[in-house]
Amino acid sequence: MCPLDHSPSTPSKTSSAPPQHHAAGLARAWPQEGFTRAPYWVYLDAQTYAREQTHIFRGKHWHYVGLEVEVPTPGDYKTTYIGEQSVVLTRADDLSLNVLVNRCAHRGNMVCREAFGKAKKLYCVYHAWSFTLKGDLSHAAFSQGLRGEGGLPKDFQLSEHGLQKCRVATLCGLVFATFSAETPPLEEWLGEVAVGIKRVLNRPLKVLGYDTQRIHANWKAYHENPRDSYHANILHTFYGTFGLSRMSQESGMVLDKAGRHVYFYTKAGTEKKSADYEATTAQLRSHNDGLHLEDPSILGWKDEFGDGVSVQILSTYPGFVLHQIAHSLATRHICPKGVGQTDLVWTYFGFADDDEAMTQKRLVQTNLAGSAGMVSVEDAAVCEMMQHAMADAQVGESFIEMGGKELDIQGSSKLSERAIRNFWNHYKEDMGF
Ligand code: FES
Ligand SMILES: [Fe+2]
Repeated sequence: MCPLDHSPSTPSKTSSAPPQHHAAGLARAWPQEGFTRAPYWVYLDAQTYAREQTHIFRGKHWHYVGLEVEVPTPGDYKTTYIGEQSVVLTRADDLSLNVLVNRCAHRGNMVCREAFGKAKKLYCVYHAWSFTLKGDLSHAAFSQGLRGEGGLPKDFQLSEHGLQKCRVATLCGLVFATFSAETPPLEEWLGEVAVGIKRVLNRPLKVLGYDTQRIHANWKAYHENPRDSYHANILHTFYGTFGLSRMSQESGMVLDKAGRHVYFYTKAGTEKKSADYEATTAQLRSHNDGLHLEDPSILGWKDEFGDGVSVQILSTYPGFVLHQIAHSLATRHICPKGVGQTDLVWTYFGFADDDEAMTQKRLVQTNLAGSAGMVSVEDAAVCEMMQHAMADAQVGESFIEMGGKELDIQGSSKLSERAIRNFWNHYKEDMGF
């Protein structure tokens, strides 16, 4: 796996970048059907993309920034992103976690250039202003001037020139941050979906590796994907053919009451055949009885969490995914990089008490995930194909009515685009469409 790389990153293994269209002149009215449609310009329009940075990424939401275990001891730091804004996650001497805008309070230079590191202070190379790991300005070079000349004004106060600080909250080792004072407490904001986090992250974590993938598509195309339980058993040959996840198995989908977040799950080995299932899967190219694995160890799975769930994909608004695919565990951080490009940062992990055999099993099954993963490669490919197909569209919109036209339904069927309708509902509200 590649080290974390925040520079223009690893090309995905799919196709080349589509032409960048900024949809100049497109009508920007949302279709009258509302959240059962997403107009194609919303994936293409540069002005809309710029407004998302303010209305969503600096709005009243919690944004994933990392794992506590990535910065375990005083002085540890990690640079990451909230939307396009570079931020630094630090562990201060008092063990507190801090998320600071990576922009010097003097003239806006980046104060932290490495992906990870250890430091006593954050030092801006431009004019040597130094900040504590809590973001307070501790020293400004030549602030008193030299030989009675120069220097900062007499009323200059160090305390008035710190780095911009975010609010920080944690749950089960995940670290989230927000720019807004109005974002509700993290667990309240997560609602019922916190259960899906606590189910997997039930003890101290150990990072196994990273993979950063550049997807040539708008960030929302990827954000829709892991909350799209309808596609999982249709697009992905590996799931259906080899039985890790099928619609014939016991499964379900859980949204929080507000409809911002979702997880869906499948229990392998709980097949219930039915005539309508057989008739449908006979039409699916992803269920291929002619394929067999020379080495089936990638499928080996034991009920690690004691509830029979073999696959759980959890997604929080607007840019975080937690997956359990058999024994492969990872976070995915969706980082927009312009209207038609997205970096997807995968952090693979296990538990601190895993033995070597379990660590190896997690690493082997991680071949299902990531930029070239046998399941996940198809998600990036579809996002890029969508971006290509939409690129010249002056009109048009997606149709999101699988499982009904409502935000809510009775039952928990995965044959539903309910989580996507809920996403667009919140997006419309945040953006004022
Ligand atoms: S921009 Fe940072 S010290 Fe001048
Ligand atoms: Fe998928």
